[in-house]
Amino acid sequence: MKVRVAYYSWQGHTEKVAMALAAKIGAEAVRIVPKQEAGMAGKAMRAALRMRAAIRPTKTDLADVDCLVVASPVWAQGVPGYVSEFCEQVTNGSGKTFCVLVEMRGSGDAKAIAKVRKRLEAKGMRFIGSATTIEKDVEADRFERYLAPLVDAISAEESRLEKK
Ligand SMILES: Cc1cc2nc3c(=O)[nH]c(=O)nc-3n(C[C@H](O)[C@H](O)[C@H](O)COP(=O)(O)O)c2cc1C
Repeated sequence: MKVRVAYYSWQGHTEKVAMALAAKIGAEAVRIVPKQEAGMAGKAMRAALRMRAAIRPTKTDLADVDCLVVASPVWAQGVPGYVSEFCEQVTNGSGKTFCVLVEMRGSGDAKAIAKVRKRLEAKGMRFIGSATTIEKDVEADRFERYLAPLVDAISAEESRLEKK
């Protein structure tokens, strides 16, 4: 099963988690890069207003992918506009599965996960699992256990596809 982990990270926490997950499950990692990185005030304003924000061209075509993992920091109980924009640009996702991984300081993960779910389900994709990591544990390299539900969901999907 081909899995792609697409992540956005401003300060490196989400990147650390996304790369660890990709290595663990043998997935390709793709970085979501803003066309222009806003300053802190711009980030906060956009996050609060739930604005989508332009990204550099990236691998949004899922034709050769079975499962997509979207990894994102939580911003203002949601996800950065770059992540929303990535989800909107996804093509050939219908019938494929996806997971959501969010990284945060302490609150808003459920709402952020729901936002990504809504965008990808609208593309005909099927949600199979999510995980949340906490900033201080990521900084202390103590986040492996948070990834277990995702690793399990992905391996269950792999077995299901093999049986087909
Ligand atoms: C604009 C902005 C808004 C944020 N909003 C939240 C929030 O609502 N809840 C939370 O727990 N953390 C929030 N954070 C903290 C980040 O989720 C946290 O620092 C995370 O580790 C950042 O990931 P990164 O290092 O990959 O960029 C926010 C950070 C920024 C920059």
